[in-house]
Amino acid sequence: MDSLLIKGGVPLRGEVHISGAKNAVLPIMAATLLTGEECVVRRVPDLSDVAFMGKILASLGAEVTLRDGELRVRAAKIKGVGDYDLIRKMRGSICILGPLVARLRQASVSLPGGCVIGSRPIDLHLKGIARLGGKISIDSGYVRVKAPKLQGAEIFLGGRVGSTVLGTANIMMAATLAEGVTVIESAACEPEVVDLANFLIAMGARISGVGSPTLTITGVKELHGAEHEVVPDRIEAATFAIAAAVTKGEVMIHGARLDHLQAVLEKLREAGVKMERQGASLLVKRGGRLKPVDVTTLPYPGFPTDVQAQFMVLMAMSRGISIITERIFEARFMHVSELARLGADIAIEGPSAIVKGGLPLSGAPVMASDLRASAALVLAGLAAAGSTQVNRVYHLDRGYEKIDQKLRQLGARIERVNET
Ligand code: EPZ
Repeated sequence: MDSLLIKGGVPLRGEVHISGAKNAVLPIMAATLLTGEECVVRRVPDLSDVAFMGKILASLGAEVTLRDGELRVRAAKIKGVGDYDLIRKMRGSICILGPLVARLRQASVSLPGGCVIGSRPIDLHLKGIARLGGKISIDSGYVRVKAPKLQGAEIFLGGRVGSTVLGTANIMMAATLAEGVTVIESAACEPEVVDLANFLIAMGARISGVGSPTLTITGVKELHGAEHEVVPDRIEAATFAIAAAVTKGEVMIHGARLDHLQAVLEKLREAGVKMERQGASLLVKRGGRLKPVDVTTLPYPGFPTDVQAQFMVLMAMSRGISIITERIFEARFMHVSELARLGADIAIEGPSAIVKGGLPLSGAPVMASDLRASAALVLAGLAAAGSTQVNRVYHLDRGYEKIDQKLRQLGARIERVNET
């Protein structure tokens, strides 16, 4: 099991290029199941979650090749039963359900486990599939769907905290091959859902309202192969912007879609971080003193929950009290106890973390628990005096392409050690 050894206190300087978005490429990979023709997807990040999804597609019978960021999938003949163990291990794999039901009119996929950030139910996914005519049963850990006929319907996908990203992906994909028109109300508007919709349209799907909370999908007989370049990862871009700020550095971020980052850039600005657009790139540097800022995570275009842990590190360095409220997941504060090991003073009050910022951080061994919490621990290690060892780095490799190499190129003293 790998760990990252970080010697903190070095201001990051230089340029970084943002990779394709994990949360766009996973549903796009699932969408390739909707046609028997070859699909080509570019700017695919080299992530363990992507490799895993490739294994899942192959286990369903698809031909999958991934080389130098280019993915080719031909799902000519596929089966509707996903490999229980493979699917159970990665929550994002639930988005093969919609395509399998649409293509084969039946599917059996294992119920995705919960994870450290919350229970992760799929009731909204199943509500949508049922509204399209799917007959759903759950037995021995499998969700089984039979849908001899898929009929377009009006579906309200709003849940207790707003919409569902992968739920919207699943129902949108299933509706592309249903008979008639489907209207999804309270659809997720995340850029990754927009990217998936654009890929489906390139495959011949008829979708309107892309990027809005109301999606209208007119079913077609079949979809054809398509080529697509994945949208840049806004969460990776936000993570590097915060890395520049917490290390008092100066980093030029290339290849991000700045229009996908408005809520994050606004909060960084309020906190006193200096940012300058240079064409499509963004120069981020620490201005004067940081200011404490309150943040609440919300569905897009609100402040993304996937940046909450990283932003908390910045607030731990801003003298004063800031309140960070997590509205999307019920247990996304796993990073708080580990940040305390580095000297941060953070108290959890229900859905809010109260950060008493400005205390000096000092390095220590810490344990990663989920993807974004791990990123937060790396940022804290970069800012802390002394050495920090972040264990269980496989969490990080799920969603950040070559993060230690990219940070080393910015001057960070960080190396990967293999702890057998
Ligand atoms: C996607 O997860 C992302 N993952 C998550 O990123 C991201 O945090 C999340 O969207 C929110 O933006 C991928 O795209 C692979 P949701 P998803 O369904 O779709 C509740 C990362 O770090 N809900 O939008 O699974 C749910 O419990 C990961 O990259 C229901 O109640 O999230 C949560 O409270 C972490 N019923 C809220 O909705 C349902 O049927 C949002 O979940 C589905 C969800």
